[in-house]
Amino acid sequence: MASRVAVVDPMAEFAAEVREGLSRKVRKELPSKYLYDAVGSALFEVISLLPQYGLTRADERLLRLHASEIVTMLPLPVAVAELGSGTGRKTRWLLQALCRRQPTSYFPIEISRSALVACQRQLSDIDSINIVGFEREYLDGLAEVAATRNADRRILVLFLGSTIGNFDRPAGTRFLHEVRRILRPGDALLLGTDLEKPVSHLLDAYDDPLGITAAFNRNLLVRLNRELGADFDLEGFDHVARYDGGERRIEMHLRARRAQTVSIPRAHLRINLREGETIWTESSHKYAPDEPFRMARETGFRPLAQWIDEEWPFAENLWLAE
Ligand code: AVJ
Repeated sequence: MASRVAVVDPMAEFAAEVREGLSRKVRKELPSKYLYDAVGSALFEVISLLPQYGLTRADERLLRLHASEIVTMLPLPVAVAELGSGTGRKTRWLLQALCRRQPTSYFPIEISRSALVACQRQLSDIDSINIVGFEREYLDGLAEVAATRNADRRILVLFLGSTIGNFDRPAGTRFLHEVRRILRPGDALLLGTDLEKPVSHLLDAYDDPLGITAAFNRNLLVRLNRELGADFDLEGFDHVARYDGGERRIEMHLRARRAQTVSIPRAHLRINLREGETIWTESSHKYAPDEPFRMARETGFRPLAQWIDEEWPFAENLWLAE
């Protein structure tokens, strides 16, 4: 997508990416990372409590059940860098297990300030932990952590919650390559991947009966209205979740109920939407259990172990940089 936009001011970058995604004639798109402002992050917390959405609970369950085992497989001493910490709830199990073995530095890297603050508050009570948050894009933050590392210290990168699934497959592989380039041999990566499951379960998870996911999706328009001065009419858009069997992903879209014109002054943009036209807001790719092993080898890692949840097909994958 528009990660090439060469600006550093976050607001200017936001505006540029919105402009790039919405000025297209077809396949209008907004980057999913912007779903997570304070309201979006809070709504995602609610989503993760919904009976229909088992992903986050599976992730946390695996980390809780296998934290000690994961820690015994790690090179020590190790510092932990997490890409997209969220509230830090599920990371607690791993950090506690690690802190029993060594004093541990934890570097959450998060573009959502509210999530970063919540995470620091949530985890600061752990014994002998040192938390330094980075309000940065993932790779920028990771590069900074790596540049300031102690010579003897390995890095464990956490990329949990199947956030990798937001990238389409080629971009996911490129991203993991980039992560590997920042690391040294012997560093580790723990990657969470949501697995394929019956399509009906996925549609229920991404279009829940309470409409929380719909609100999460529409909130992106609220954010554009507030931060870029846009005039989206929320009533004018339906939340759509659909499964693409070829790409093996859930897609979230906002579909215009009628033809409409929207102006987005701070992105210097005015767009016309046809009735039924959609703005693609997120993809969530689903993986076959053996797929992460292949992804590891393709990107310079050696797969060490995989744990799969028994209730909600989801895998935790531990890799070592080669
Ligand atoms: C946080 C990216 C893993 O893809 O399932 C939840 C986000 N979107 N419901 C996902 C999400 C709609 C979630 N991730």
